[in-house]
Amino acid sequence: MALTVGIIGSGTVAQTLGKGFFGAGASVTMGTRDPGKLATFTAETGIPVADVATAAAADVLVLAVKGTAAETVVRQLGSALAGKVVIDTTNPIADGAPDAGVLRYFTNANESLMERLQAIAPGARFVKAWNSVGAPFMIHPTFAEGRPTMFICGNDADAKAQVAEILDGFGWRPKDVGLAPSARPVEALCQLWCAPGFLSGQWRHAFALFER
Ligand SMILES: NC(=O)c1ccc[n+]([C@@H]2O[C@H](COP(=O)([O-])OP(=O)(O)OC[C@H]3O[C@@H](n4cnc5c(N)ncnc54)[C@H](OP(=O)(O)O)[C@@H]3O)[C@@H](O)[C@H]2O)c1
Repeated sequence: MALTVGIIGSGTVAQTLGKGFFGAGASVTMGTRDPGKLATFTAETGIPVADVATAAAADVLVLAVKGTAAETVVRQLGSALAGKVVIDTTNPIADGAPDAGVLRYFTNANESLMERLQAIAPGARFVKAWNSVGAPFMIHPTFAEGRPTMFICGNDADAKAQVAEILDGFGWRPKDVGLAPSARPVEALCQLWCAPGFLSGQWRHAFALFER
């Protein structure tokens, strides 16, 4: 994969996707406020870590920060995001316990976090992806039934096509479900994915769409 990829974040998703892209041959830089957090990760994987602004110089960015911090991070990056494909893995999860297994969101049903991010950085080409599955299944998910579906959306057709190709390479069936407002139902899929986990401890699933 002849891409430079900047991963913004240092958590489970950032590390999983950083390793995935690196393993596929991309030139990856992890971006975090505290590069020391990833010292062991870098020693084990050989993937370099830098500050957020340095990582954001890559061609393709993966936003993998806590939902409550995403708007701040995008605001800080500002014009550095202009023209970039930004794969948005975030979910608008509010602080506090789930309600009978359903994560509480700080957005309402008629808006989404990705729309807020797109409004903060209008020149960025956000594509929602990878938000509706747990990190262990993000790269080359294996299910007896075949490839699961990754629902994506965003305003820029070329950016979505590029992300769809990336997802295909990582073992997903990408499904473009529309423009930025489609992030409302796509973000809600995270609540649906997590509910069985919170209620019954079952976290080993992914979504698939049957079409004819
Ligand atoms: N965990 C999963 O399986 C999963 C699956 C799908 C989607 N997601 C979504 O992916 C995102 C990342 O999830 P995660 O579980 O990997 O990690 P997380 O614990 O949700 O977030 C960790 C990251 O958030 C950043 N962060 C936290 N507070 C911040 C602040 N005040 N300002 C700037 N950055 C801040 C940290 O950046 P620094 O490195 O700079 O400290 C860290 O990299 C979330 O939005 C989550 O909803 C998670």
